[in-house]
Amino acid sequence: WPRTSGRTDGTLTIGHVDVRDLAREHGTPLFVLDEHDVRARMRDYVTAFAGSDVHYAGKAFLCREIVRWLHDEGLGLDVASGGELAVALSVGFPPERITMHGNNKSVAELTRALEVGVGRIVVDSYEEIARLGHLAERHGKRPKVMIRVTTGVEAHTHEFIATAHDDQKFGLSLSAGAAAEAVRRILALPSLELVGLHSHIGSQIVDTAGFEVAARRLAGLLVQIKDEHGVVLPELDLGGGYGIAYVEDDEAPDVKEIADGLREIVTKVCEDAGLPVPRLTVEPGRAIVGPGGVTLYEVGTVKDVEGLRTYVSVDGGMSDNVRTALYGADYTVTLASRASTAEPMLSRVVGKHCESGDIVVRDCFLPSDLAPGDLLAVAATGAYCRSLASNYNYLPKPAVVAVADGAARVIVRGETEDDLLRGQL
Ligand code: LLP
Repeated sequence: WPRTSGRTDGTLTIGHVDVRDLAREHGTPLFVLDEHDVRARMRDYVTAFAGSDVHYAGKAFLCREIVRWLHDEGLGLDVASGGELAVALSVGFPPERITMHGNNKSVAELTRALEVGVGRIVVDSYEEIARLGHLAERHGKRPKVMIRVTTGVEAHTHEFIATAHDDQKFGLSLSAGAAAEAVRRILALPSLELVGLHSHIGSQIVDTAGFEVAARRLAGLLVQIKDEHGVVLPELDLGGGYGIAYVEDDEAPDVKEIADGLREIVTKVCEDAGLPVPRLTVEPGRAIVGPGGVTLYEVGTVKDVEGLRTYVSVDGGMSDNVRTALYGADYTVTLASRASTAEPMLSRVVGKHCESGDIVVRDCFLPSDLAPGDLLAVAATGAYCRSLASNYNYLPKPAVVAVADGAARVIVRGETEDDLLRGQL
């Protein structure tokens, strides 16, 4: 639960705002973001990674207000598309503090990035190197580029496996020599300035050993580049992926430990080889915005499926949180609008979509006096819920409100039926 959440007379409050007031005023489903929580996590990263750069991964959840918070708290931004870039630019975020990612950036996206002068473009293929080199030359620019390196550390949720073969779409393989070949190709293009290497091993990772293996391999490649080309690259971007707690007993890695561990490894590899220590960047998304977010739903039906469990239907579902259906994700849910001393019953919280896989919380215990009109709150939905939301079954996407110090304000308006019909011929 967000840092400023609590209970008053049995009712959940977030940022000292009563969730019943939020539901009354803004409707449900509703995304509630604890501003203090999110900003505190931004600062935690900036502090732990002092001397390095923290670029928030906008894919986790991006809107103009988040961009303002990033700016206030001194973070940079990682964007994965021209759309994310547009959100940042629309509120004047400094382009030089933006890194652009993507395994298939369009010519239009690359051109925009060149025009506005984004700080780093992370290239992901030979084609992109040639394409960007050509575009840069045509526009009279010399962008700073990094190479996305596949380090062979295959990260899964809660574990990692080191593999020789990297069977996924991102990056250029270290072991197969594709990353080294990319270095050669970029160095041969006068219109591109190669400044460093990038790696992102996966997401929702709690075992930090995988990050360290990747960092060591990336630093090793810096040494190899120095030996082969006499070129010292000044930067390493170690990506994001730091896990958060979704349910009780989940563990989340400590940001200070991550920072110290990564710095130590990179420093050691570089110093041993007589190289200057590169400037590091990390790209946390979920770890910054995830824990501060809560989704509020209203219960519509409570159906007892004899001998099995109780199905609790809420007014949203896989259109506002697809993570349960897509990744088998676990969430914590609670009755938010009142206290209850009723016996707990084995429940499944489901949405209102036309699919049996439309599950919000697979297994949970809710009080047996649960009734239509009750509000449920699902924790840790700040990341990859609103950003992955869809209009499946023509449901409007819910609003996002930021709460702080007893006040709530809409930071993303909820969609209306007009929004749903817009663009229809
Ligand atoms: N940097 C790069 C290059 C990335 O691809 C990602 C995530 C991040 C940073 C941030 O990762 P984070 O710190 O948020 O784990 N939809 C999935 C997560 C996809 C992550 C994609 N890339 C989910 O809901 O779990």
